[in-house]
Parts: sequence; C-alpha cells; structure tokens
Amino acid sequence: MSRTAAGKAYLICGGASLIGSHLADQLLAAGASEVRLLDNFSLGTPEIIAHLEGEARVKRIRGDILRINELIEASEGMDGIFALAGFLTLPMSHNPPLGVAVNTEGMVNILEAARLARVRHVVFSSSVAAYGNMAADTLTEDSPSLMSSVSPIAAVYGTTKLLGEQLGRLYAQKYGVGFSGMRFSSVYGERQHARAVNANFIAETYDRIKRGERPVIVGDGREVHDYVYVTDVAAGCIAAMLNGEGAQVFNLCTGVDTTHTDLVRTILEVCDSKLEPDYREDTRAVKSAGGDHLGFSPAKAEREIGWKPAVSLRDGVARTIAWREKHGG
Ligand SMILES: NC(=O)c1ccc[n+]([C@@H]2O[C@H](COP(=O)([O-])OP(=O)(O)OC[C@H]3O[C@@H](n4cnc5c(N)ncnc54)[C@H](O)[C@@H]3O)[C@@H](O)[C@H]2O)c1
Repeated sequence: MSRTAAGKAYLICGGASLIGSHLADQLLAAGASEVRLLDNFSLGTPEIIAHLEGEARVKRIRGDILRINELIEASEGMDGIFALAGFLTLPMSHNPPLGVAVNTEGMVNILEAARLARVRHVVFSSSVAAYGNMAADTLTEDSPSLMSSVSPIAAVYGTTKLLGEQLGRLYAQKYGVGFSGMRFSSVYGERQHARAVNANFIAETYDRIKRGERPVIVGDGREVHDYVYVTDVAAGCIAAMLNGEGAQVFNLCTGVDTTHTDLVRTILEVCDSKLEPDYREDTRAVKSAGGDHLGFSPAKAEREIGWKPAVSLRDGVARTIAWREKHGG
C-alpha cells in the first residue's frame, strides 16, 4: 500500500461538509498538489473551511452538483473525486424532493463528469443506512438490505445511497471509472454540525451536562449506534481513493455497538460529572435505523484498503467536547 496522495489533484464535491473539511486537511498534509472544494453552501457554511484561507493549493468553487456543466469544468485535470455532497436524513426530511435529487441525480452527474474528464476514481459517501434494519450477527458489504421496517424517511435516505452505489458500479462496468462506495456509520467530531441525528445526541447531552441538567435518554438506553470519528472517516476515504480497485463497497465503521447509556456515561466521565441519566419515553419523529444490535463489520476495509479506525470513543468524545467548548457550542 505505498500509493500516496502527494502530487495529486482532487475535487471534493460537498467541500464545505463536515467530512470534506477534514478530508481537505488530510489531502493537503499528504502533499496533494491541488484540492478543489465545490459546494453550493445550501447546508454547509464557508466557516468550516475558513482555516484553509490563504492555502494556495486550495481552490473554492461555488457550484451545484445538479448542474453538470459546473461539475465537468471542476473535474478537468483531477486524479480523483470525493462525492460527499448530499442530504442526510434530517435535511432530507425537511425537503424530500431536493434531497432525493441531490443524492441521486447529483451523484449520476458526478459520475458522468468523472467519465467525461477521464478521472481515475470516485469515492462516494454512502451510509450504513443502506442496510436499513437488516438484522444479523455481523453485517458485511454482501449482506442484504431491509427497508420495510425502518421509517419512510430513513428508507428513502438509505435507498438514495444504495442507488448511488449501483450507479458507481454501472459506471465502472460501462466506462471503467473506478469506484468506492463508503458506508459510513455515525460520524462525529470536531466541526460537528447539527444535521446528523446521532451526532446531535452527543452535543445535546454535553450541553445539558454543562448547564447542570441531567442528560436525557429516550427509551431504555439500549439503542446502539456505531460512532466513528471524522478524521478516521476522512482517512478511510483517502485509503479507498489510493488503493480501491474496480467498483467496491466498504463499511467505514468501528465494529463497536455503543448503547445510548454507554455513550452518555462516556460523556459524563469526560465532563467529570456525577449527574445520572434521566430516561424518558421515546417520541422522536426522525431517528436512524438501529435497535439493540447492529454488528457492522470494518474487516473488508482493513483487508482490502488497509484502513482501520484509530480514535477511541473516549478520545473522540473528548476532542468533540473540547472543540465545542472552544467554539461556543
Ligand atoms: N455525517 C454522518 O454521520 C454521515 C453518515 C453516513 C453518510 N454520510 C454522508 O456523507 C456525506 C457528508 O456528510 P457530512 O456530515 O459531512 O455532510 P454535510 O451536511 O456537512 O455536508 C453536505 C454538503 O453538501 C453540500 N451540498 C448539498 N447540496 C449540494 C449541491 N446540490 N451541490 C453542491 N453541494 C451541495 C452542502 O452545502 C454541504 O456542505 C453526505 O453525503 C452524507 O449523506 C454522513
């Protein structure tokens, strides 16, 4: 695995995203010659990439992935494209028509631009939402999806990600555009926004503890999620860009199911608080798929692209809280 990003040029669609901002940092640190950040700022804000101001290798492009001409121009001369622009479940629930268009039509536009500009590889931000509520001891990339038992909005979101993956496979087969579909689990970390349901729970819990209020857990606290730190996700996307062959799908997750109770206890510990969780009835309108077992496996990513997560939940929570503290939550 000696391939490197040094001297290469990359386009990040959704360049003002949480994950895109960390990806840009890592590509620059690895010696990339150019990083183009394309975003229409419909969800992300320029502040998230403000620290890159003055970096000569960064080019900001105000562009829309629903306008293919803008994508084709931005893709010229690129070694790879990171397709991160998209609507998470929460923004999708506010505007389903636009969310579906961006996640699907936008994705086919990116692939088309990659084909026309002869870009070697596209890395796509898929999601473990693509599994729906599929239950198994271990969920690997070959496991089927089960959408009928998740909420309609979670199913629509997951289905847009499945379609993105299949479009990627099609473009690889028909036109030889390399493709990696990365199924992220619940991403959290520094520069966290309020658009991701599970990461919001970390921020809300911390804010309550800071105010001296007991952290609230809905339900019995046994609901689990797989929390993966944002810098690990960015590193996984780069590993796929450099080492991915053909068209493949990878879980980018820790493989650890963390219950709400365990997460809250970790946050309380980081905050050095003696408060006790307050369990309440679950009345959430938008929640991601999950139950008391998920079992996402990161084994394929480790085996085939040499990636494994490096940041523990304890360290990740501490870093997230330190960032929130510094930036006023
Ligand atoms: N954050 C997570 O927990 C998570 C988990 C699984 C998958 N994902 C996927 O990863 C990707 C990035 O996630 P994030 O949390 O960094 O997202 P984000 O919400 O921070 O960023 C999405 C970006 O896309 C941009 N965008 C939206 N429509 C656009 C358009 N038409 N043209 C150009 N840009 C547009 C937004 O302005 C925003 O900057 C998304 O596709 C998301 O679905 C995220």
